[in-house]
Amino acid sequence: PLSSKLIVASNRLPINISRDKEGRWVSGGMSSGGLVAALSGIPRDSFIWLGWAGCVVPPHDEPEVTSLLEAEGCVPVFLSDKIAKDHYNGFSNGILWPLFHYQTEDIEFNDEYYSAYSSANQAFADAIERIYEPGDLIWIHDMHLMLLPRMLRKQLHPADAKLHIGFFLHIPFPTSEVFHVLPWKRELLRGVLDSDLIGFHTYDYASHFLRTCTHVLGMETRPQGVLVQDRLAAVGVFPIGIEPHKFEEKLETVQVQDRIKELEVTFAGKKLIIGIDRLDYIKGIPHRLLGYEAFLRDNPESRGKVVLLQVAVPSRTDVPEYKKLKREIEQLVGRINGTYGNLLENYAPVQYLFRSIDFSELTALYTVADVCFVTSLRDGMNLVSLEYIVCQGAKVNAKDGPGVLILSEFAGASGSLIAGSIVVNPWNTDALSDAVRVALSMDVEGRRSKHDLLYKYATKYTASFWGASFIGELRKFMPLQPGSL
Ligand code: UDP
Ligand code: G6P
Repeated sequence: PLSSKLIVASNRLPINISRDKEGRWVSGGMSSGGLVAALSGIPRDSFIWLGWAGCVVPPHDEPEVTSLLEAEGCVPVFLSDKIAKDHYNGFSNGILWPLFHYQTEDIEFNDEYYSAYSSANQAFADAIERIYEPGDLIWIHDMHLMLLPRMLRKQLHPADAKLHIGFFLHIPFPTSEVFHVLPWKRELLRGVLDSDLIGFHTYDYASHFLRTCTHVLGMETRPQGVLVQDRLAAVGVFPIGIEPHKFEEKLETVQVQDRIKELEVTFAGKKLIIGIDRLDYIKGIPHRLLGYEAFLRDNPESRGKVVLLQVAVPSRTDVPEYKKLKREIEQLVGRINGTYGNLLENYAPVQYLFRSIDFSELTALYTVADVCFVTSLRDGMNLVSLEYIVCQGAKVNAKDGPGVLILSEFAGASGSLIAGSIVVNPWNTDALSDAVRVALSMDVEGRRSKHDLLYKYATKYTASFWGASFIGELRKFMPLQPGSL
């Protein structure tokens, strides 16, 4: 065991904070999204989690918020309103997020956003410097902090050979043609390349990154990484996972078992399809709704017998694209229910929730659903598909057997789950309609054998496996000399 500590830095902390009616700062529950879900698989007492406070905190309240979060093993980074907005909404969610997900059309490449991005990264570097001791490991996460490795390398003990920095990108890394569009492409690449180890979910993302380093910076690469002067910035593939036992334990609680029974009564005689996503344009929710609408059109006998329950968790609600998407989804839901709903039978083919749901409800829904419908247009990995697989494990030996995963070929998870799921192209509406038909008519033995493959994967490549592999690599990593490659 090493005496050094592990410092994890991500923009999002696992806990939301807000003020109560009396104006006191209180913890407001778990944050949403795959990054927090995956990092929650690593024992919380094994690292310090440093991240943005998530809202504007007046300077005189900073000590109160710091001690509130300290109790949860977290260290907040405070950003002014302007820097936070331009860093989070402007640069990270308005430029990097769409670009890395191949949605290049409406991006506004604004210098002010870049300057805020740089200031926010600097605030993280300063916060890390305050707690860093030589020998500590630093693990930086995701697109919000791509300049941070370089800043730290300069700022922290430049001569400290023990300084080990890891970086993991939770979203796709696009092809070099797409990345090339970014006005600050060199700065971001150089920023990340000052890490010792750079991790991606898939081989595709890693190879896009390597090719981009050659294309944009003219750097020499090896399959194992990028040559940066006299050292190697190692590049590795670490597919993220979930913690199956958390779902399996939750599933056994009385609360979830009771809820499952209630849901079974609510949906008795009907097949239930679920969609669970942050309300984000990369998730292809309109495409899913169009596919489902085509299914109801093409299969009249299924009307009244199938329900799509779509949970859309509010996300990045200040970004205009997200507001537009919300309206688009609401219109589609209205159209489908208006066309295929039936008042007499109290039937709405789509049930739509625009809110987050708690862990018990989520576990119960994953367990009762006959189909999980994932239609991402691009998605780093997609943990929802893995969570569904694990919860369906409870039904393998039941008479009805487990459900079916319909999975977009553009989700990082599809490479690993291809054999056990129905893989679809979300842009092909007729193929989506057909996938729903096939999923709902598959016999129990077919579903069991597909589920078996998926379950083996989801329970082997877990979040803790992911965390331990990355940290293991980072710990043993010693800068190699170019001649030794
Ligand atoms: N999730 C959540 N709140 C909810 C519903 C789901 O936090 O109300 C979780 C879900 O269980 C999953 C994560 O959000 O762990 C979504 O991860 P995924 O990788 O599918 O997508 P991301 O949101 O990271 O793009
Ligand atoms: C994705 C990103 C994460 C982010 C999460 C939720 O998973 O890769 O970095 O935390 O979405 O989004 P939010 O903007 O609420 O942090």
